[in-house]
Amino acid sequence: MQILAGKHLVLGLSGGIACYKSAELVRLLAKAGASVQVVMTEAAEQFITPVTMQALSGRAVYGSQWDAREANNMAHINLSREADAVLIAPCSADFLARLAQGRCDELLSLLCLARPIERVPLLLAPAMNREMWAHPATQRNLAQVARDGAAVLGVGCGEQACGETGDGRMLEPAEIMEELAAFFTPKLLAGEQVLITAGPTFEAIDPVRGITNLSSGKMGFAIARAARQAGAEVTLVSGPVHLPTPRGVRRIPVDSARKMLETVTSQAQKASIFIATAAVADWRPASSAEHKIKKDGSGQVPTLAFVENPDILASVAASARAQSGQLYCVGFAAESENLLEHAAAKRARKGVPLLVGNIGPDTFGQDDNALLLVDAGGHRELPRASKIELARQLVADIAARLRHTRGA
Ligand code: CTP
Repeated sequence: MQILAGKHLVLGLSGGIACYKSAELVRLLAKAGASVQVVMTEAAEQFITPVTMQALSGRAVYGSQWDAREANNMAHINLSREADAVLIAPCSADFLARLAQGRCDELLSLLCLARPIERVPLLLAPAMNREMWAHPATQRNLAQVARDGAAVLGVGCGEQACGETGDGRMLEPAEIMEELAAFFTPKLLAGEQVLITAGPTFEAIDPVRGITNLSSGKMGFAIARAARQAGAEVTLVSGPVHLPTPRGVRRIPVDSARKMLETVTSQAQKASIFIATAAVADWRPASSAEHKIKKDGSGQVPTLAFVENPDILASVAASARAQSGQLYCVGFAAESENLLEHAAAKRARKGVPLLVGNIGPDTFGQDDNALLLVDAGGHRELPRASKIELARQLVADIAARLRHTRGA
């Protein structure tokens, strides 16, 4: 969440039970290095106290347009002028209606109307009962505020405080943080369709056993997240890993290398960038038993014969779309020594313009990594950093290469 460091947000709370989530949101924002000025409507103060929000944000909360603490008595002007964005979370159905109409008879709606519209974006995290959310009046108001330039971050679906189940829950604080980070990230990959493989593959020996490896999938998932934040539509074809799907990313779970190849081949038809981070098993058992292989008591161990798996990256890189320049392919190399030498050889062997090398044992399962970018002209190091930071740098690098390749 480095992108949020140093940002100043006005966080507006309107009335709704989701106000309790806004306390956690302020903590997460502060942890990410953002400063937060909380403004609450009278209704919001029925759900959570300004004392809580002041303690968490480290700033006195504003609630009235007649607040005499401001020397010029113009809180609605002063508060919005220094903000990088105004975020309303929760945004109630009533507050949405007020925004849609341009009402301004209390501080929060007044400061939304008075903000410099070109410079200070307005983001909304709605929260309401599912019937209120689905009502044509609410949907009309949403369309109106979007036309007026507000970014609606969406709602969650699930159990609601009223006991009903459906759309209208406020996004969880971590999801709002993800949306904020995406909002502030430059859209270097806007319009791109990015296809990524990640994680290990699992090659079955029988229905309960198989061969796999230690890949955690973290690097591929971080790249998926960074690419989505940079404005791309992202499809993540992942082997079995225990990682949550990054927000806004389409995930297709697969197990074996052959299943991964089949999925990638069809998805690559519409992709413009393919990034292969998966640690695909090089070999699979020549046959997979239909039933569990049992010990027969003789002490004899079964003999396994192996066959080579298809090379997914090489196969995509050799496709007509890649060869004609419609699909830009990036490979990864997990090595244990002589990184540059092996990565350069692998780049040539796989037939890709860019290969990203890393030392496998130094990074498997870790949250950080160091990368070596190898292309036809030479190499460049991305020094050790968190995987999400490296993913961001890699996305920026690929975007620059694409611009160059396309002559833009
Ligand atoms: N890769 C692939 N399909 C395979 C093997 C590898 O798509 N069957 C991709 C990986 O996702 C990675 C690149 O090829 O982008 C290199 O993978 P790596 O395992 O480092 O290399 P290998 O081709 O397996 O070569 P070696 O094991 O000899 O190092």
